[in-house]
Amino acid sequence: MVLSTGINKIKTAVFISGTGSNLKSLIKFSKLNKSPISVKLIITNNKLAKGLKYGDIFKIKKKIIHFKNKEIAEKKILNELAINKIELVCLAGFMKILSKNFIKNFKGKILNIHPSLLPKYKGLNTHERAIENKDKYSGCTVHFVNAKLDSGKIILQKKVNILKKDSPVSLAKKILAQEHKLYPKAILKVFNL
Ligand code: GRF
Repeated sequence: MVLSTGINKIKTAVFISGTGSNLKSLIKFSKLNKSPISVKLIITNNKLAKGLKYGDIFKIKKKIIHFKNKEIAEKKILNELAINKIELVCLAGFMKILSKNFIKNFKGKILNIHPSLLPKYKGLNTHERAIENKDKYSGCTVHFVNAKLDSGKIILQKKVNILKKDSPVSLAKKILAQEHKLYPKAILKVFNL
């Protein structure tokens, strides 16, 4: 299937909290003919998220949602998703855990990228833990989001070797480079492309 315009593409929202390098790679991917998605909305809980700049650069709508009260925040997000007819949510470094209620109420698909080979190392500090345990490799995972943290069905994974000289920082860098390739591939897989 060749999609030359964004009109028929799957309307996608990307949720971020920080740098947004995965957001950038998803936006770039969305511009390709072979991509089934069009990024229509960026959601963040952090008004200082560096990744918000990609909203300006690529002229994509941004919404900052404060999470002081999670229930209200999630209602606001669900409302934004409905207004913008969003069908796919991609979590990309989004540091809030979405409630069961949110997941139940959003009728589209929700995906997440995680910097470890799940089910190993759910949660934070994945690289530190992999190095501390003297693992020979780690990697990244794209998975469906369910009500349990980092536990939804796995879509794709990519292994990355851990070298003796690797630090959490150098490992994070190597894995992030793979994340940028893995997320688009996982989206193609989800939509059978
Ligand atoms: C990535 O490592 C992602 O796997 C994790 O948070 C990081 C986000 O990086 N969930 P970025 O904001 O996409 O640069």
